[in-house]
Amino acid sequence: MATGNVAIVGTQWGDEGKGKVVDLLTPAFSIVARYQGGHNAGHTVFVNGRKFVLHLIPSGILHAGVTCVIGNGVVVDPEALFAEIDELRREGIEPQGRLFISERAHVILPYHRDVEQAAERARGDRRIGTTARGIGPSYEDKSGRRGIRMADLADEEPDGHLGDTIRANVCARNTTVGGEALDWRTVRRDLLAAWQRLEPLVANVSKLLDEAAQADRRILFEGAQGTMLDVDHGTYPFVSSSNGTAGGICAGLGVPPRAVGEVLGVAKAYSTRVGSGPFPTELGGAFGEALRESGDEYGASTGRPRRVGWFDAVVVRHAARLNGLDALALTKLDVLDGLSEIKVCTHYRCGDQELTDMPAGGATLARCEPQYETLPGWSSPTAGQRRFEDLPVEARRYIARLEEVTGQTVSLVSTGSDRHDTIIRPDSTVARWLS
Ligand code: IMP
Repeated sequence: MATGNVAIVGTQWGDEGKGKVVDLLTPAFSIVARYQGGHNAGHTVFVNGRKFVLHLIPSGILHAGVTCVIGNGVVVDPEALFAEIDELRREGIEPQGRLFISERAHVILPYHRDVEQAAERARGDRRIGTTARGIGPSYEDKSGRRGIRMADLADEEPDGHLGDTIRANVCARNTTVGGEALDWRTVRRDLLAAWQRLEPLVANVSKLLDEAAQADRRILFEGAQGTMLDVDHGTYPFVSSSNGTAGGICAGLGVPPRAVGEVLGVAKAYSTRVGSGPFPTELGGAFGEALRESGDEYGASTGRPRRVGWFDAVVVRHAARLNGLDALALTKLDVLDGLSEIKVCTHYRCGDQELTDMPAGGATLARCEPQYETLPGWSSPTAGQRRFEDLPVEARRYIARLEEVTGQTVSLVSTGSDRHDTIIRPDSTVARWLS
């Protein structure tokens, strides 16, 4: 496998601005590959003033000549995929021939969404606040060995495995969900109709990536969600159902560990999360509301208002260790413009204990009180700045302090939604990748 591959991962609860960073780095890579999640993700990219929101297809598709890969670790809703392909075509971008989906990827079916809604209702106050896209139940079926993969659609024979599996799954759905029953024959028919469009996109992705690497073509691995939504390392059970950390790359694409290369963590200059679950540095009240408005913090997939809070170094240190970060990209710095002071959580206090590492237990985390340092804000804007030395001195100090408390080097700073509103620090890790 060639070196020179890079993974981009979220260090918080998703929505860190990975889409923009992937978009910026893509010109230096031949392939962009997604390894987990589904259309719960929402990557917003602005190109020449045009806004693209991609959920399933890697944002590399916006770059001519770049191959995009959806790995076996991704769960694919055919309807959502077709909607995205149609939208790209309307914009003059043809995915066919550049987009490849693993034959081992699992399919999201209508009953997954029904089962998820019922499960969320049953949880009451403990609901996860999922994106309601059927992601969790699809991964449950995968682990439960009753999922349906792309390869099963290719293999279908009358009265074969596919029909049996769908019938059993729909029967289980009709029992748990109640209401109007689904007919498994309709589900099967619609799926086989979808296969007509899926077939030309389906490939042996592991082999494709291996061949690309043999030919020294560089791969950019695109993580969805963020470390704190990772099913193993996040704020369980308030997480998504896959491994968005860099560890998910090998299993989710069928590539060996040595293929992963270096890792860039993306962190927002403050924190956000959508849905329920612990969020130690959360800001409520009018101040939180104002920050949400200035950051336009509304979910790219569901439009839900995002919860907002101060930067939490416990979270980002957790992410740095788990992902083995080589550098950090700091996004949305401009959203903090005009604040008189800015807080950074350096550690938690839990009873009489000082915690510098993220606790695993939800109850412990709920008892943790964030301990803050207060830094001066800046009065001249960072918005649109493109050179590090043009940032106000207080903004540079803020970044330097984030570097100290996270133990990471900030290679890239985003100062606006446009591709060009970005500072790539000279001689940094990111500058090296792009050179
Ligand atoms: P699910 O992934 O739809 O099962 O949702 C599980 C949790 O992850 C919920 O809190 C969602 O809001 C959150 N989530 C899933 N995908 C994203 C994302 O791309 N950005 C931010 N939050 C997400």
